[in-house]
Amino acid sequence: MDNTIIEEIKRLKKQRNAIILAHNYQREEIQDIADFVGDSLELSRQAVQVQCDVIVFCGVHFMAETAAILNPDKTVLLPEIEAGCPMADTVDVKELKEWIKKYPSSPVISYVNTTAEVKALSYACCTSANAPQIVKAVPFDSIIFVPDKNLAEWVKKQVPYKEIIAWNGFCPTHHMIKKEDVIRTKKVHPDALVVVHPECRPEVIELADHVASTSGMVRFAKASQAKEFIIGTEIGLLYRLKKENPGKNFYPLKSTMICPNMKRTTLESVLLALKENQYVIKVPEDIRIKAYEAVQRMFTLVS
Ligand code: 13P
Ligand code: SF4
Repeated sequence: MDNTIIEEIKRLKKQRNAIILAHNYQREEIQDIADFVGDSLELSRQAVQVQCDVIVFCGVHFMAETAAILNPDKTVLLPEIEAGCPMADTVDVKELKEWIKKYPSSPVISYVNTTAEVKALSYACCTSANAPQIVKAVPFDSIIFVPDKNLAEWVKKQVPYKEIIAWNGFCPTHHMIKKEDVIRTKKVHPDALVVVHPECRPEVIELADHVASTSGMVRFAKASQAKEFIIGTEIGLLYRLKKENPGKNFYPLKSTMICPNMKRTTLESVLLALKENQYVIKVPEDIRIKAYEAVQRMFTLVS
């Protein structure tokens, strides 16, 4: 059954001159059919580079929206329209505008996990792969950082000389991890290195051997001499880690670290996306132009 679907996806991809981009948290079968699998930064770079008419974005809404911001002339499809990001949804635009008025000398740096409207209000965007570098590089001593308070805290540690006014958002999948989870898993695998995502709580990050974006974790595991790793991020990443490092062992920090939105996309929905041209992600041009500037600035600040 799956083979028939995969063949049909391949046929339609060719017919429509489409490419499939997938985030590292996607289901195994989606990662396997994708043309490129990566973290948010790599996927937004790919979205600019790829030569195609259609991008099928297997991820969540803000990721497809970022691709649409960067590619007004391509059709960007999100196979599951309900695949959102609860952390991105914590930013209320009206309240953010009030913050901007209240702190006029503190421009907004927004994590890429935000809506186009929020990006349009931002000076620059960042991802988990470049947040400290972006905050260092912007020509301001004080910034508003939205929406992830844990990422903001991690950035503060590396850029203590700047003031960071942080929004109170978090990712439920990462914030659920407590210090005790690290201690317990470390007892089971005492030789393993603990690698966590910067969306984890500060006290969890404190106990980690390494902190990185999802693809940063893949690079770290490949380069490391260690043979065992406890991985503190959405468990979908373990598929890639195991596939690309056959001689090494990877354990989830907690097996319940699942992002339900990332898991919505299935082979069936990818097939339907290509067949029915759904769901087209389009950003109103006035918002897109401003959001584009913020995303583009991220690329130019740290190339
Ligand atoms: P990465 O940019 O590290 O892939 O993270 C995206 C994300 O949504 C983490 O929860
Ligand atoms: Fe959003 Fe968290 Fe899911 Fe990433 S893992 S998409 S931050 S809810």
